[in-house]
Amino acid sequence: MHRRLIAPGALVAALLLPAIPAFAAAPSPGAPGIGDPYYPYYGNGGYDVSHYDLRLRYQPATDELEGTATILARTTQDLSSFDLDFLLDVDEVRVNGVSASFASSGQHELVVTPRTPLAKDAPITVVVRYHGVPSTKSAYGFTTWHRTPDGAVAADEPESAWWWYPSNDHPLDKATYDVSVAVPDGTQAISNGTLQSTSSQAGWTRYAWRENKPQATYLTTLAVGRFDITTGTSEGGVPIVNAYSKDLGDNDGSARASVERTGELVDWLSGYFGPYPFSTAGGYVPNTTTGYALETQTRVYYSPKQFANGANTSVVVHELAHQWYGDSVSLKGWKDIWINEGFARYAQWLWSEHEGEGTTQQLADYVYDSHPADDAFWTVAPGDPGPDDQFDLAVYDRGALAIQALRNEIGDDAFFAVLKGWPHEHAYGNASVADFEAYAERVSGKSLSALFDTWLFQTSKPAAPAARTASI
Ligand code: ARG
Ligand code: ZN
Repeated sequence: MHRRLIAPGALVAALLLPAIPAFAAAPSPGAPGIGDPYYPYYGNGGYDVSHYDLRLRYQPATDELEGTATILARTTQDLSSFDLDFLLDVDEVRVNGVSASFASSGQHELVVTPRTPLAKDAPITVVVRYHGVPSTKSAYGFTTWHRTPDGAVAADEPESAWWWYPSNDHPLDKATYDVSVAVPDGTQAISNGTLQSTSSQAGWTRYAWRENKPQATYLTTLAVGRFDITTGTSEGGVPIVNAYSKDLGDNDGSARASVERTGELVDWLSGYFGPYPFSTAGGYVPNTTTGYALETQTRVYYSPKQFANGANTSVVVHELAHQWYGDSVSLKGWKDIWINEGFARYAQWLWSEHEGEGTTQQLADYVYDSHPADDAFWTVAPGDPGPDDQFDLAVYDRGALAIQALRNEIGDDAFFAVLKGWPHEHAYGNASVADFEAYAERVSGKSLSALFDTWLFQTSKPAAPAARTASI
């Protein structure tokens, strides 16, 4: 489900080359990357996935994962071969029912060569049977598969899929998912969407989860461990499923006091962003030692560390805001990360104001004042931070400051119309910072290029904004 990016070179070639009959063009390999300048090998070219069906089995004691991925896709060119992004050991690949040859290549590429080339614009079914011990695999010297005392978690950004399922690993190619995982009895498997069924057989319990709305690969999560699962429905009618590791120790109360408010906070955010885009919401708290949270679609990943100082509704607001800004409307390229993090941070500011803990303007002033002009904070441009600074504080805080500047420039009526209109305009799709700027200009009727340039793209501290109140 991605919109193809056309390389400028392809247009030039199309203009210069004489027309040749389609059948004369030899099928060529699909590109090993989807064309993201930050990460040239992330995602792949030549096909577009619509659905992943993952049928897995995981043994926590040994970290052994095995299973079958069935991928429904459509070719976007004639293909002699194509890549998937994957690190585990592959036993067999079939394309349209016929066994295909395969080889690993580069850091995380699996190159699949079907017995006969694939025609452009045709549906394909790819079956990959695989096994492996994810914690033993690394790419570029890192791993994002986290073992826990009773299981494991796959939740990271921008990489997490390579360790557990083969994919076209880039947000441009969103798809629906069935994730079915068998785990030893007494252990639970948590994933995105709705729990369709559980069934037990010979010491193993299988959990079948379904996400029926397009989902980016990095937003697809898996957690195995001993969990307590709670269910409910928000006042606004959104079904809620949360899960807590049975071993959260001292953080158990604060985790529940935060995450159990998911339904209330989803309803509150709907007032700003419009109807909640998915059929279920919730979060899970495994007993990991990592420090971040992640907006995994419909089922947010929280680290117990988020709750070490008591309840933390702010982080819940942040990750739920991403369900609109990041998950339903996904970035086109990783340079567009401001749309995710700036707006999720701004939602925290709105919550702070709602709770009487500081207005958005006070928080903006605080961010502005607390970073002097020579602070490296101002050298990171939130509108294009670079691959090493995607999650720099500036993307979040300076990003939210830019949003307050936008609000002051266009006024509250236009601003809140943009805030609610954007998730509707691009629901379940992809969009860029440039798309956002154009949208805000259209809604407000103002030219905003100078404002965006100053707050998102300059690498120095902007002059003090006119709208300032005393710092809190
Ligand atoms: N999008 C996440 C958030 O909600 C950030 C994840 C950063 N990734 C990491 N491995 N630290 O802010
Ligand atoms: Zn975030």
